Amino acid sequence: MSDVASPEVARDQWGTKVGFILAAMGSAIGLGNIWRYPYVVYENGGGAFLIPYFIAIATAALPILILEYSLGQKYRSGAPFTFRAISKKWEPLGWFQVAVAFFIATYYMVILGWCLSYIVYSFGSQWGDDTASFFIGEYLGTSEGGAPGGFWDIGAPQVKVLLAVLVAWALVLLIMVRGVSKGIELAAKILMPTLIVMLIIIVLRAVTLDGAAEGLNVLFTPDFGALGDPSVWIAAYGQVFFSMSIAFAIMITYASYLPRKTDLSNSAFIVGLSNAGFEFLAAIGVFAVLGFLAAAQSTEVTEVAGTGGVGLAFISFPAIINTLPGLNTVFGLLFFGTLFFAGLTSAVSILECVIAPVREKLGLSRNAAVGLVGGVAVVVSMLYVTRGGLFYLDTIDRFLNNFGLVVSGLLEVILIAWVARQIGPLAQHVDAMSYIRTGVWWKVSLTVITPVLLGVMTVYNLWNEINERYSDYPLSGLLVLGWGAVLLCAVLAFVITAVPDRGALADYQLPTKE
Ligand code: ALA
Repeated sequence: MSDVASPEVARDQWGTKVGFILAAMGSAIGLGNIWRYPYVVYENGGGAFLIPYFIAIATAALPILILEYSLGQKYRSGAPFTFRAISKKWEPLGWFQVAVAFFIATYYMVILGWCLSYIVYSFGSQWGDDTASFFIGEYLGTSEGGAPGGFWDIGAPQVKVLLAVLVAWALVLLIMVRGVSKGIELAAKILMPTLIVMLIIIVLRAVTLDGAAEGLNVLFTPDFGALGDPSVWIAAYGQVFFSMSIAFAIMITYASYLPRKTDLSNSAFIVGLSNAGFEFLAAIGVFAVLGFLAAAQSTEVTEVAGTGGVGLAFISFPAIINTLPGLNTVFGLLFFGTLFFAGLTSAVSILECVIAPVREKLGLSRNAAVGLVGGVAVVVSMLYVTRGGLFYLDTIDRFLNNFGLVVSGLLEVILIAWVARQIGPLAQHVDAMSYIRTGVWWKVSLTVITPVLLGVMTVYNLWNEINERYSDYPLSGLLVLGWGAVLLCAVLAFVITAVPDRGALADYQLPTKE
Protein backbone atom coordinates (compact mmCIF):
# COMPACT_ATOMS: atom_id res chain seq x y z
CA MET A 1 0.00 0.00 0.00
CA SER A 2 1.54 3.29 -1.05
CA ASP A 3 1.50 6.24 1.24
CA VAL A 4 0.29 8.66 -1.38
CA ALA A 5 -3.43 9.13 -1.69
CA SER A 6 -4.61 8.22 -5.12
CA PRO A 7 -8.06 6.90 -5.75
CA GLU A 8 -7.30 4.23 -8.31
CA VAL A 9 -3.70 3.29 -7.77
CA ALA A 10 -3.29 2.93 -4.05
CA ARG A 11 -6.49 3.87 -2.28
CA ASP A 12 -6.95 2.18 1.08
CA GLN A 13 -9.56 -0.57 1.06
CA TRP A 14 -11.64 -2.37 3.61
CA GLY A 15 -10.40 -5.90 4.17
CA THR A 16 -13.91 -7.40 4.08
CA LYS A 17 -17.47 -6.27 3.50
CA VAL A 18 -18.32 -7.19 7.11
CA GLY A 19 -15.44 -4.98 8.17
CA PHE A 20 -16.95 -2.06 6.26
CA ILE A 21 -20.41 -2.66 7.70
CA LEU A 22 -19.05 -2.85 11.24
CA ALA A 23 -16.98 0.31 10.73
CA ALA A 24 -20.00 2.16 9.31
CA MET A 25 -22.16 0.91 12.18
CA GLY A 26 -19.40 2.00 14.53
CA SER A 27 -19.53 5.45 13.02
CA ALA A 28 -23.29 5.73 13.27
CA ILE A 29 -23.63 4.24 16.75
CA GLY A 30 -22.07 6.79 19.03
CA LEU A 31 -22.69 9.20 21.86
CA GLY A 32 -25.73 10.45 19.95
CA ASN A 33 -27.47 7.09 20.34
CA ILE A 34 -26.94 6.76 24.05
CA TRP A 35 -27.35 10.18 25.49
CA ARG A 36 -29.07 12.23 22.82
CA TYR A 37 -31.74 9.87 21.56
CA PRO A 38 -33.50 8.90 24.83
CA TYR A 39 -33.81 12.58 25.61
CA VAL A 40 -35.02 13.62 22.22
CA VAL A 41 -37.75 10.96 22.37
CA TYR A 42 -38.77 11.98 25.85
CA GLU A 43 -38.89 15.71 25.13
CA ASN A 44 -40.74 15.37 21.86
CA GLY A 45 -43.91 13.50 22.58
CA GLY A 46 -42.56 10.20 23.95
CA GLY A 47 -44.00 7.25 22.03
CA ALA A 48 -45.62 9.57 19.47
CA PHE A 49 -42.14 10.81 18.50
CA LEU A 50 -41.49 7.42 16.95
CA ILE A 51 -43.80 8.39 14.07
CA PRO A 52 -41.76 11.40 12.84
CA TYR A 53 -38.59 9.52 13.73
CA PHE A 54 -39.39 6.56 11.46
CA ILE A 55 -40.62 8.91 8.74
CA ALA A 56 -37.31 10.79 9.01
CA ILE A 57 -35.42 7.50 8.69
CA ALA A 58 -37.46 6.45 5.66
CA THR A 59 -37.45 9.77 3.81
CA ALA A 60 -34.07 11.23 4.75
CA ALA A 61 -31.68 8.96 6.62
CA LEU A 62 -31.85 5.82 4.48
CA PRO A 63 -32.07 7.65 1.13
CA ILE A 64 -29.11 9.89 2.04
CA LEU A 65 -27.16 6.92 3.37
CA ILE A 66 -27.62 5.08 0.05
CA LEU A 67 -26.76 8.31 -1.79
CA GLU A 68 -23.54 8.84 0.18
CA TYR A 69 -22.49 5.21 -0.26
CA SER A 70 -23.03 5.45 -3.99
CA LEU A 71 -21.11 8.75 -4.21
CA GLY A 72 -18.12 7.49 -2.25
CA GLN A 73 -18.02 4.14 -3.98
CA LYS A 74 -18.40 5.62 -7.45
CA TYR A 75 -16.03 8.58 -7.17
CA ARG A 76 -13.59 6.91 -4.78
CA SER A 77 -12.57 10.02 -2.89
CA GLY A 78 -13.47 12.08 0.15
CA ALA A 79 -16.35 14.57 0.07
CA PRO A 80 -14.55 17.59 -1.51
CA PHE A 81 -13.27 15.72 -4.57
CA THR A 82 -16.48 13.78 -4.90
CA PHE A 83 -18.52 16.98 -5.12
CA ARG A 84 -15.94 18.52 -7.43
CA ALA A 85 -16.19 15.53 -9.75
CA ILE A 86 -19.92 16.03 -9.89
CA SER A 87 -19.77 19.74 -10.49
CA LYS A 88 -16.54 21.66 -10.63
CA LYS A 89 -17.61 24.60 -8.47
CA TRP A 90 -18.89 22.47 -5.60
CA GLU A 91 -15.63 21.45 -3.92
CA PRO A 92 -16.27 23.98 -1.08
CA LEU A 93 -19.37 22.05 0.01
CA GLY A 94 -17.13 19.05 0.68
CA TRP A 95 -14.67 21.16 2.68
CA PHE A 96 -17.57 22.71 4.59
CA GLN A 97 -18.69 19.23 5.65
CA VAL A 98 -15.11 18.33 6.49
CA ALA A 99 -14.68 21.51 8.57
CA VAL A 100 -17.92 20.84 10.46
CA ALA A 101 -16.75 17.27 11.13
CA PHE A 102 -13.37 18.58 12.28
CA PHE A 103 -14.91 20.88 14.90
CA ILE A 104 -17.33 18.18 16.00
CA ALA A 105 -14.31 15.89 16.49
CA THR A 106 -12.65 18.48 18.74
CA TYR A 107 -15.43 18.35 21.33
CA TYR A 108 -16.47 14.74 20.75
CA MET A 109 -12.99 13.73 21.91
CA VAL A 110 -13.41 15.76 25.08
CA ILE A 111 -16.56 13.83 25.96
CA LEU A 112 -14.61 10.63 25.35
CA GLY A 113 -12.04 11.95 27.83
CA TRP A 114 -14.81 12.45 30.41
CA CYS A 115 -15.92 8.86 29.81
CA LEU A 116 -12.39 7.62 30.48
CA SER A 117 -12.26 9.55 33.76
CA TYR A 118 -15.65 8.15 34.75
CA ILE A 119 -14.48 4.61 33.96
CA VAL A 120 -11.80 5.19 36.60
CA TYR A 121 -14.25 6.91 38.99
CA SER A 122 -16.57 3.91 38.71
CA PHE A 123 -14.26 1.97 41.01
CA GLY A 124 -15.96 2.54 44.35
CA SER A 125 -18.25 5.29 42.98
CA GLN A 126 -15.66 8.01 43.51
CA TRP A 127 -18.14 10.71 42.44
CA GLY A 128 -19.69 10.62 45.90
CA ASP A 129 -23.31 11.40 46.77
CA ASP A 130 -23.65 14.80 45.17
CA THR A 131 -23.00 13.76 41.58
CA ALA A 132 -23.94 17.14 40.11
CA SER A 133 -21.47 19.14 42.20
CA PHE A 134 -18.83 16.52 41.57
CA PHE A 135 -19.16 16.68 37.78
CA ILE A 136 -19.77 20.37 37.27
CA GLY A 137 -17.73 21.75 40.12
CA GLU A 138 -14.99 19.38 41.13
CA TYR A 139 -14.31 17.62 37.83
CA LEU A 140 -15.00 20.26 35.16
CA GLY A 141 -14.25 23.18 37.45
CA THR A 142 -17.07 25.08 35.76
CA SER A 143 -17.26 28.68 36.93
CA GLU A 144 -19.28 29.36 40.01
CA GLY A 145 -22.84 30.16 39.09
CA GLY A 146 -22.39 28.70 35.62
CA ALA A 147 -23.54 30.60 32.55
CA PRO A 148 -24.35 33.31 31.69
CA GLY A 149 -22.10 35.14 34.17
CA GLY A 150 -19.34 32.59 33.94
CA PHE A 151 -19.42 32.04 30.19
CA TRP A 152 -16.20 33.88 29.46
CA ASP A 153 -14.48 32.80 32.64
CA ILE A 154 -12.10 30.57 30.69
CA GLY A 155 -9.53 29.92 33.40
CA ALA A 156 -6.68 27.46 33.22
CA PRO A 157 -7.17 23.94 31.86
CA GLN A 158 -8.47 21.44 34.41
CA VAL A 159 -5.59 19.02 34.82
CA LYS A 160 -7.76 15.91 35.38
CA VAL A 161 -9.86 16.62 32.31
CA LEU A 162 -6.81 17.53 30.25
CA LEU A 163 -5.02 14.26 31.03
CA ALA A 164 -8.08 12.15 30.25
CA VAL A 165 -8.65 13.97 26.96
CA LEU A 166 -5.01 13.49 25.97
CA VAL A 167 -5.27 9.74 26.66
CA ALA A 168 -8.42 9.58 24.50
CA TRP A 169 -6.63 11.45 21.73
CA ALA A 170 -3.63 9.12 21.91
CA LEU A 171 -5.88 6.07 21.52
CA VAL A 172 -7.80 7.50 18.59
CA LEU A 173 -4.71 8.76 16.77
CA LEU A 174 -3.07 5.36 17.22
CA ILE A 175 -6.01 3.76 15.41
CA MET A 176 -5.86 6.43 12.69
CA VAL A 177 -2.14 5.91 12.04
CA ARG A 178 -2.72 2.19 11.49
CA GLY A 179 -4.95 3.00 8.53
CA VAL A 180 -8.27 1.78 7.20
CA SER A 181 -8.12 -1.99 7.39
CA LYS A 182 -5.52 -2.47 10.14
CA GLY A 183 -6.77 0.41 12.26
CA ILE A 184 -10.41 1.48 11.81
CA GLU A 185 -11.70 -1.89 10.61
CA LEU A 186 -9.86 -3.91 13.23
CA ALA A 187 -11.07 -1.59 16.00
CA ALA A 188 -14.65 -1.89 14.75
CA LYS A 189 -14.44 -5.69 14.57
CA ILE A 190 -13.37 -5.84 18.20
CA LEU A 191 -15.41 -2.99 19.66
CA MET A 192 -18.78 -3.36 17.93
CA PRO A 193 -19.66 -6.89 19.06
CA THR A 194 -18.35 -6.05 22.56
CA LEU A 195 -20.47 -2.92 22.61
CA ILE A 196 -23.64 -4.73 21.64
CA VAL A 197 -23.12 -7.40 24.31
CA MET A 198 -22.48 -4.67 26.91
CA LEU A 199 -25.63 -2.78 25.96
CA ILE A 200 -27.72 -5.95 26.15
CA ILE A 201 -26.39 -6.68 29.66
CA ILE A 202 -27.20 -3.10 30.74
CA VAL A 203 -30.73 -3.29 29.32
CA LEU A 204 -31.43 -6.70 30.88
CA ARG A 205 -30.30 -5.41 34.26
CA ALA A 206 -32.18 -2.14 33.80
CA VAL A 207 -35.57 -3.60 32.95
CA THR A 208 -35.47 -5.96 35.91
CA LEU A 209 -35.00 -3.13 38.43
CA ASP A 210 -37.90 -1.97 40.62
CA GLY A 211 -39.67 0.99 39.03
CA ALA A 212 -38.37 0.24 35.52
CA ALA A 213 -41.90 0.01 34.12
CA GLU A 214 -42.67 3.54 35.30
CA GLY A 215 -39.63 4.86 33.43
CA LEU A 216 -40.68 3.08 30.27
CA ASN A 217 -44.21 4.46 30.63
CA VAL A 218 -42.85 7.98 30.74
CA LEU A 219 -40.67 7.32 27.72
CA PHE A 220 -43.25 5.68 25.54
CA THR A 221 -46.61 7.14 26.59
CA PRO A 222 -47.53 8.87 23.35
CA ASP A 223 -48.49 12.51 23.33
CA PHE A 224 -50.08 12.62 19.90
CA GLY A 225 -50.68 16.35 20.26
CA ALA A 226 -46.92 16.77 19.83
CA LEU A 227 -47.20 15.68 16.21
CA GLY A 228 -48.78 19.03 15.34
CA ASP A 229 -45.71 20.84 16.64
CA PRO A 230 -43.14 21.50 13.88
CA SER A 231 -40.28 21.44 16.38
CA VAL A 232 -40.98 17.75 17.04
CA TRP A 233 -40.53 16.94 13.37
CA ILE A 234 -37.41 19.04 13.24
CA ALA A 235 -36.03 17.21 16.26
CA ALA A 236 -36.64 13.90 14.48
CA TYR A 237 -34.80 14.97 11.34
CA GLY A 238 -32.01 16.58 13.39
CA GLN A 239 -31.56 13.39 15.41
CA VAL A 240 -31.21 11.10 12.40
CA PHE A 241 -28.54 13.28 10.78
CA PHE A 242 -26.22 13.29 13.78
CA SER A 243 -26.99 9.75 14.77
CA MET A 244 -26.54 8.17 11.34
CA SER A 245 -23.40 10.21 10.58
CA ILE A 246 -24.92 11.60 7.39
CA ALA A 247 -24.07 14.97 5.77
CA PHE A 248 -20.80 14.70 7.72
CA ALA A 249 -18.58 13.62 4.80
CA ILE A 250 -18.11 10.41 6.78
CA MET A 251 -20.15 7.91 4.83
CA ILE A 252 -18.81 9.20 1.48
CA THR A 253 -15.28 8.65 2.76
CA TYR A 254 -16.01 5.20 4.20
CA ALA A 255 -17.69 4.09 0.97
CA SER A 256 -14.70 5.31 -1.04
CA TYR A 257 -12.74 2.38 0.42
CA LEU A 258 -15.23 -0.16 -0.94
CA PRO A 259 -14.41 -2.45 -3.85
CA ARG A 260 -15.91 -1.72 -7.26
CA LYS A 261 -18.84 -4.08 -6.76
CA THR A 262 -20.69 -3.88 -3.45
CA ASP A 263 -24.35 -4.16 -2.54
CA LEU A 264 -24.90 -0.55 -1.52
CA SER A 265 -28.56 -0.38 -0.54
CA ASN A 266 -28.33 -3.55 1.47
CA SER A 267 -25.36 -2.08 3.40
CA ALA A 268 -27.30 1.14 4.01
CA PHE A 269 -30.30 -0.75 5.37
CA ILE A 270 -28.14 -2.85 7.68
CA VAL A 271 -26.27 0.17 9.03
CA GLY A 272 -29.31 2.46 9.27
CA LEU A 273 -31.59 -0.03 10.93
CA SER A 274 -29.01 -1.36 13.36
CA ASN A 275 -28.29 2.23 14.38
CA ALA A 276 -32.01 2.80 15.01
CA GLY A 277 -32.27 -0.51 16.88
CA PHE A 278 -29.30 0.36 19.05
CA GLU A 279 -30.68 3.73 20.09
CA PHE A 280 -34.11 2.27 20.72
CA LEU A 281 -32.55 -0.29 23.05
CA ALA A 282 -30.43 2.40 24.69
CA ALA A 283 -33.57 4.46 25.33
CA ILE A 284 -35.23 1.47 26.99
CA GLY A 285 -32.18 0.94 29.21
CA VAL A 286 -31.86 4.61 30.12
CA PHE A 287 -35.51 5.15 31.02
CA ALA A 288 -35.78 1.86 32.89
CA VAL A 289 -32.98 2.97 35.21
CA LEU A 290 -34.47 6.46 35.52
CA GLY A 291 -37.70 4.76 36.61
CA PHE A 292 -35.71 2.83 39.18
CA LEU A 293 -34.02 5.99 40.49
CA ALA A 294 -37.36 7.80 40.74
CA ALA A 295 -38.87 4.89 42.67
CA ALA A 296 -35.84 4.75 44.99
CA GLN A 297 -36.13 8.49 45.71
CA SER A 298 -39.95 8.36 45.84
CA THR A 299 -40.21 11.01 43.20
CA GLU A 300 -41.29 11.39 39.56
CA VAL A 301 -39.25 10.17 36.60
CA THR A 302 -39.45 13.66 35.17
CA GLU A 303 -37.67 14.92 38.30
CA VAL A 304 -34.66 12.65 37.93
CA ALA A 305 -34.32 12.90 34.17
CA GLY A 306 -31.89 15.82 34.47
CA THR A 307 -31.38 18.40 31.81
CA GLY A 308 -30.17 16.76 28.66
CA GLY A 309 -27.41 14.47 27.53
CA VAL A 310 -24.50 15.66 29.60
CA GLY A 311 -26.55 15.73 32.79
CA LEU A 312 -28.00 12.32 32.04
CA ALA A 313 -24.70 10.54 31.50
CA PHE A 314 -22.47 12.24 34.02
CA ILE A 315 -24.91 13.29 36.74
CA SER A 316 -28.03 11.08 36.67
CA PHE A 317 -26.21 7.84 35.85
CA PRO A 318 -23.66 8.11 38.65
CA ALA A 319 -26.59 8.79 41.01
CA ILE A 320 -28.33 5.69 39.71
CA ILE A 321 -25.18 3.62 40.12
CA ASN A 322 -24.93 4.80 43.75
CA THR A 323 -28.46 3.56 44.38
CA LEU A 324 -28.12 0.13 42.73
CA PRO A 325 -28.40 -2.86 45.01
CA GLY A 326 -24.88 -4.28 44.54
CA LEU A 327 -22.43 -4.57 41.67
CA ASN A 328 -22.21 -0.79 41.44
CA THR A 329 -18.67 -0.75 40.15
CA VAL A 330 -19.48 -3.31 37.46
CA PHE A 331 -22.50 -1.31 36.30
CA GLY A 332 -20.45 1.90 36.22
CA LEU A 333 -17.75 0.21 34.16
CA LEU A 334 -20.36 -1.22 31.80
CA PHE A 335 -22.15 2.09 31.30
CA PHE A 336 -19.14 4.34 30.82
CA GLY A 337 -17.36 1.59 28.87
CA THR A 338 -20.33 1.38 26.50
CA LEU A 339 -20.36 5.13 26.06
CA PHE A 340 -16.60 5.14 25.46
CA PHE A 341 -16.57 2.28 22.94
CA ALA A 342 -19.54 3.71 21.06
CA GLY A 343 -17.88 7.12 20.95
CA LEU A 344 -14.46 5.78 19.98
CA THR A 345 -15.60 4.11 16.76
CA SER A 346 -17.52 7.30 15.85
CA ALA A 347 -14.58 9.56 16.66
CA VAL A 348 -12.29 7.66 14.28
CA SER A 349 -14.84 8.07 11.50
CA ILE A 350 -15.22 11.79 12.15
CA LEU A 351 -11.43 12.17 11.91
CA GLU A 352 -11.04 9.89 8.90
CA CYS A 353 -13.38 12.04 6.83
CA VAL A 354 -11.00 14.95 7.50
CA ILE A 355 -7.75 13.03 7.07
CA ALA A 356 -8.69 11.39 3.74
CA PRO A 357 -9.38 14.62 1.79
CA VAL A 358 -6.42 16.40 3.38
CA ARG A 359 -4.21 13.59 2.02
CA GLU A 360 -5.87 13.84 -1.37
CA LYS A 361 -5.45 17.61 -1.53
CA LEU A 362 -1.92 17.87 -0.20
CA GLY A 363 -0.48 14.53 -1.28
CA LEU A 364 0.48 13.68 2.30
CA SER A 365 1.31 10.27 3.72
CA ARG A 366 -1.19 8.94 6.27
CA ASN A 367 1.20 9.62 9.14
CA ALA A 368 1.76 13.21 8.06
CA ALA A 369 -1.97 13.85 7.62
CA VAL A 370 -2.81 12.26 10.98
CA GLY A 371 -0.09 14.41 12.56
CA LEU A 372 -1.36 17.60 10.92
CA VAL A 373 -5.09 17.10 11.47
CA GLY A 374 -4.65 15.46 14.88
CA GLY A 375 -2.20 18.12 16.03
CA VAL A 376 -4.49 21.04 15.20
CA ALA A 377 -7.52 19.21 16.59
CA VAL A 378 -5.79 18.45 19.89
CA VAL A 379 -4.93 22.15 20.27
CA VAL A 380 -8.53 23.26 19.50
CA SER A 381 -9.93 20.70 21.94
CA MET A 382 -8.04 22.41 24.75
CA LEU A 383 -10.72 25.09 24.64
CA TYR A 384 -13.15 22.63 26.24
CA VAL A 385 -10.94 21.52 29.10
CA THR A 386 -11.11 24.99 30.64
CA ARG A 387 -13.51 26.22 33.32
CA GLY A 388 -15.91 27.52 30.67
CA GLY A 389 -15.41 24.45 28.48
CA LEU A 390 -18.86 22.98 29.07
CA PHE A 391 -20.54 26.15 27.75
CA TYR A 392 -18.29 26.31 24.68
CA LEU A 393 -18.92 22.66 23.91
CA ASP A 394 -22.65 23.05 24.32
CA THR A 395 -22.78 26.16 22.11
CA ILE A 396 -20.66 24.75 19.29
CA ASP A 397 -22.54 21.45 19.37
CA ARG A 398 -25.87 23.22 19.03
CA PHE A 399 -24.84 25.44 16.12
CA LEU A 400 -22.87 22.84 14.18
CA ASN A 401 -25.80 20.44 14.40
CA ASN A 402 -28.53 22.91 13.56
CA PHE A 403 -26.68 24.82 10.88
CA GLY A 404 -23.58 22.84 9.93
CA LEU A 405 -25.10 19.40 9.39
CA VAL A 406 -28.57 20.42 8.29
CA VAL A 407 -27.30 22.99 5.80
CA SER A 408 -24.69 20.50 4.52
CA GLY A 409 -27.41 17.94 3.94
CA LEU A 410 -29.62 20.49 2.23
CA LEU A 411 -26.86 21.67 -0.14
CA GLU A 412 -25.86 18.09 -0.85
CA VAL A 413 -29.33 17.05 -2.02
CA ILE A 414 -29.74 20.31 -3.98
CA LEU A 415 -26.44 19.67 -5.75
CA ILE A 416 -27.13 16.05 -6.58
CA ALA A 417 -30.83 16.25 -7.37
CA TRP A 418 -31.26 19.70 -8.86
CA VAL A 419 -27.97 21.21 -9.98
CA ALA A 420 -26.15 18.17 -11.38
CA ARG A 421 -29.31 16.05 -11.87
CA GLN A 422 -27.48 12.92 -10.84
CA ILE A 423 -30.29 11.02 -9.12
CA GLY A 424 -31.07 8.96 -12.23
CA PRO A 425 -27.46 7.94 -13.01
CA LEU A 426 -26.76 7.21 -9.35
CA ALA A 427 -29.91 5.09 -9.09
CA GLN A 428 -28.65 3.05 -12.03
CA HIS A 429 -25.26 2.74 -10.36
CA VAL A 430 -26.82 1.48 -7.10
CA ASP A 431 -29.32 -0.81 -8.80
CA ALA A 432 -26.63 -2.44 -10.93
CA MET A 433 -25.05 -3.93 -7.84
CA SER A 434 -27.77 -4.01 -5.17
CA TYR A 435 -30.44 -6.51 -4.31
CA ILE A 436 -32.86 -3.85 -3.01
CA ARG A 437 -33.51 -1.50 -5.92
CA THR A 438 -33.81 2.23 -5.29
CA GLY A 439 -37.13 2.93 -7.04
CA VAL A 440 -39.55 5.85 -6.83
CA TRP A 441 -39.27 6.12 -3.04
CA TRP A 442 -35.57 6.98 -3.28
CA LYS A 443 -35.98 9.52 -6.07
CA VAL A 444 -38.96 11.30 -4.51
CA SER A 445 -37.30 11.41 -1.09
CA LEU A 446 -34.13 12.99 -2.42
CA THR A 447 -35.57 15.32 -5.02
CA VAL A 448 -38.60 16.60 -3.13
CA ILE A 449 -39.16 15.50 0.46
CA THR A 450 -35.66 15.92 1.87
CA PRO A 451 -34.82 19.27 0.21
CA VAL A 452 -38.18 20.76 1.23
CA LEU A 453 -37.98 19.52 4.80
CA LEU A 454 -34.36 20.52 5.27
CA GLY A 455 -35.12 23.94 3.77
CA VAL A 456 -38.00 24.43 6.20
CA MET A 457 -35.82 23.22 9.05
CA THR A 458 -33.06 25.68 8.25
CA VAL A 459 -35.49 28.62 8.16
CA TYR A 460 -37.18 27.47 11.37
CA ASN A 461 -33.84 27.01 13.16
CA LEU A 462 -32.70 30.45 12.03
CA TRP A 463 -35.92 32.03 13.22
CA ASN A 464 -35.64 30.29 16.59
CA GLU A 465 -32.03 31.16 17.09
CA ILE A 466 -32.60 34.82 16.31
CA ASN A 467 -35.69 35.13 18.47
CA GLU A 468 -34.65 33.15 21.48
CA ARG A 469 -31.19 33.27 22.94
CA TYR A 470 -29.95 29.71 23.46
CA SER A 471 -29.56 28.72 27.11
CA ASP A 472 -29.44 32.38 28.14
CA TYR A 473 -25.79 32.47 27.15
CA PRO A 474 -24.39 35.95 26.51
CA LEU A 475 -24.88 37.18 22.96
CA SER A 476 -21.12 37.57 22.59
CA GLY A 477 -20.70 33.86 23.35
CA LEU A 478 -23.29 32.80 20.81
CA LEU A 479 -21.84 35.12 18.18
CA VAL A 480 -18.27 33.98 18.66
CA LEU A 481 -18.64 30.26 19.38
CA GLY A 482 -21.98 29.58 17.70
CA TRP A 483 -22.36 31.69 14.58
CA GLY A 484 -18.59 32.21 14.54
CA ALA A 485 -17.94 28.46 14.31
CA VAL A 486 -20.39 28.05 11.42
CA LEU A 487 -18.90 31.05 9.61
CA LEU A 488 -15.38 29.77 10.18
CA CYS A 489 -16.34 26.45 8.57
CA ALA A 490 -17.71 28.32 5.54
CA VAL A 491 -14.62 30.52 5.22
CA LEU A 492 -12.30 27.52 5.61
CA ALA A 493 -14.25 25.72 2.90
CA PHE A 494 -13.43 28.41 0.33
CA VAL A 495 -9.88 28.99 1.54
CA ILE A 496 -8.95 25.29 1.37
CA THR A 497 -10.56 24.96 -2.05
CA ALA A 498 -8.31 27.79 -3.26
CA VAL A 499 -5.17 25.95 -2.12
CA PRO A 500 -3.55 24.38 -5.22
CA ASP A 501 -3.86 20.58 -5.35
CA ARG A 502 -0.65 18.76 -4.58
CA GLY A 503 -2.03 15.26 -4.24
CA ALA A 504 -2.08 12.46 -6.77
CA LEU A 505 -5.63 13.53 -7.50
CA ALA A 506 -4.31 16.65 -9.18
CA ASP A 507 -3.11 14.56 -12.12
CA TYR A 508 -5.91 12.10 -11.93
CA GLN A 509 -8.97 12.41 -14.10
CA LEU A 510 -11.93 11.85 -11.83
CA PRO A 511 -14.59 9.58 -13.23
CA THR A 512 -17.02 11.69 -15.19
CA LYS A 513 -20.79 11.65 -14.83
CA GLU A 514 -22.49 8.62 -16.26
N1 ALA B 1 -23.17 9.20 14.65
C1 ALA B 1 -22.36 9.53 15.75
C2 ALA B 1 -23.13 9.60 17.02
O1 ALA B 1 -24.27 9.23 17.07
C3 ALA B 1 -21.61 10.79 15.48
O2 ALA B 1 -22.63 9.99 18.01
